[in-house]
Amino acid sequence: MLVMFCLLLVLHTVGAHLQTTADLKSNDCPRFDYEYKLLERLIRIEFAQREVEATLAELREKFQTIPADVPRKLEDIRRLMDNKSKGFGSTYVRWGRTVCPGNATELVYKGFAGGSHYTDTGSAADFLCLTEDPIWGKYAGGSANSALIYGVEYELIKESTPFSTVSINDDMPCCVCKTSRTPTIMIPGRTECYPGWTMEYNGYLMSGHHSQTGSTNFVCVDTNPEARSGGYADVNGHLVYLIQAKCGSLPCPPYTEGRLLTCVVCSR
Ligand SMILES: *[C@@H]1O[C@H](CO)[C@@H](O)[C@H](O)[C@H]1NC(C)=O
Ligand SMILES: *[C@@H]1O[C@H](CO)[C@@H](O)[C@H](O)[C@H]1NC(C)=O
Repeated sequence: MLVMFCLLLVLHTVGAHLQTTADLKSNDCPRFDYEYKLLERLIRIEFAQREVEATLAELREKFQTIPADVPRKLEDIRRLMDNKSKGFGSTYVRWGRTVCPGNATELVYKGFAGGSHYTDTGSAADFLCLTEDPIWGKYAGGSANSALIYGVEYELIKESTPFSTVSINDDMPCCVCKTSRTPTIMIPGRTECYPGWTMEYNGYLMSGHHSQTGSTNFVCVDTNPEARSGGYADVNGHLVYLIQAKCGSLPCPPYTEGRLLTCVVCSR
């Protein structure tokens, strides 16, 4: 208020002076009036500006307190969501590979494919993905009254193998992968997933040979399998073969006699 008053005082003095000057020139009263109004407006603008500045300062102060706190809260939420998503998802074995396919998957462990001997008539049939870091419990040693587990050898027909990365008698590695997507399924006979599903990997369906005494389950072996380093000797064990379609009770079409069965592992 004091400022306003002072300015008005100055205004009067200046105005009076201007008027005197004007009188000398052209006796022009409206000119003084004009100057006076202009100055008055300038003062009003000055006050309005101060008000705006004060409001801005107030807002700045408020916003300074929010960002200090908001990033921390957002980080907490992000961590909570990370922790929650770690509890979800599913796992699968990627047969023939030691790495997971990426795209929100993580390696749980890698190792060697194993199973019963191909000539065993009893024992277990399934393929196992054995860890490369075994931890032993108590053991007897020697030839105890037990079951036996062997490594897996690729048994391929040289002329018709779909694999360029492994040879006959190479040993098959494997790994267990965790994907963030929840159900995981293996579809035999396809190389692509159905709409809405994400492909984890694809390859060829494999199992033990139809004529051998030992049975196995079916596994989906990656299309670019790896061989265990140094595992090329022909020592047999749990053997794995490609699988051909056999028409009859299996309808052809859509199947075709003699074609190799593909497979795909999908999740969503
Ligand atoms: C997330 O999990 C870690 C341990 O895995 C724990 O230390 C942390 O407190 C958890 N964070 C939240 C926000 O739950
Ligand atoms: C990765 O996963 C997402 C779904 O989680 C999918 O939309 C995308 O196509 C996948 N990318 C590849 C390369 O498979």
